[in-house]
Amino acid sequence: MELLDGKRLADEIKAEIAAEVEAIKKNGGKIPHLVAIIVGHDGASETYVGHKEKSCAQVGFKSEVLRFEDTITEAELLHQIELLNTNPDVDGFIVQMPLPKHINEQKVIEAIDPKKDVDGFHPVNVGRMVIGLPSYVSATPDGIVDLLHRYKIETAGKHCVVLGRSNIVGRPIANLLSLKANPGDCTVTVCHSRTPNIKEFTKTADILIVALGRAEYVTADMVKEGAVVVDVGITRVESPNTKSGWKLLGDVKFDEVAPKCSYITPVPGGVGPLTIVSLLKNTLKAAKKEVYG
Ligand code: GUN
Repeated sequence: MELLDGKRLADEIKAEIAAEVEAIKKNGGKIPHLVAIIVGHDGASETYVGHKEKSCAQVGFKSEVLRFEDTITEAELLHQIELLNTNPDVDGFIVQMPLPKHINEQKVIEAIDPKKDVDGFHPVNVGRMVIGLPSYVSATPDGIVDLLHRYKIETAGKHCVVLGRSNIVGRPIANLLSLKANPGDCTVTVCHSRTPNIKEFTKTADILIVALGRAEYVTADMVKEGAVVVDVGITRVESPNTKSGWKLLGDVKFDEVAPKCSYITPVPGGVGPLTIVSLLKNTLKAAKKEVYG
């Protein structure tokens, strides 16, 4: 069994991006510029945006955070998005989710110029990804593809079972791995909350991707010997054995599943660290006009 070390890989890719930014600087090119909009004071969102700023600094990007109170109207937020859409200095931007209840998240996503949508949430980017055109792929599925690619895991002809059908993980990763590509060329099965006998599917998976948000859902009896297991789940639970009083659990019962696997992601330190890297990759692509020309 080998661990899929997302932290190590994230550091490796960040170093590659930093070297590229250094080269751009040397040649007098434009430094990639990412903006994050954050509305209100959600603790998790503050943490995520803080990590994104720090990562931008690590690779030499210009980054800014635009903060708005949760009293901002939908119209005013849409106006701010339009300002970023038309600001030639801004290569890409994200609007951190969740947004306050009075703001329609889908409307906000669709207001972002697809060329600057480095989160890859706009339906134009999702649609382009589905048919295999250049696009900004959203962070978690892109991170999973990076893991499979960099660890040179054979995917062609394999049966990949995805647990979960969310718009940001299950659905995109199922599409990406069914594309004629490498990683890709998989036969993909998507299981979800209404799938009976999930175990009958998971037991046939060469590659099992779990994104249900249910702590330790996947047990050893559900996994085929030699499978590759990618655990996207991350649930905070109370723990009397840690200093902080809590710990993070994945969707896979790691201790009993790991011995059966050829490769498995740890939680934390698996897919998680690669998600911010994806945002950096997309911002670099935006600055280089690689996706839309
Ligand atoms: N909230 C949690 N994850 C994300 C993300 O990747 N992008 C945005 N915009 N909001 C989030």
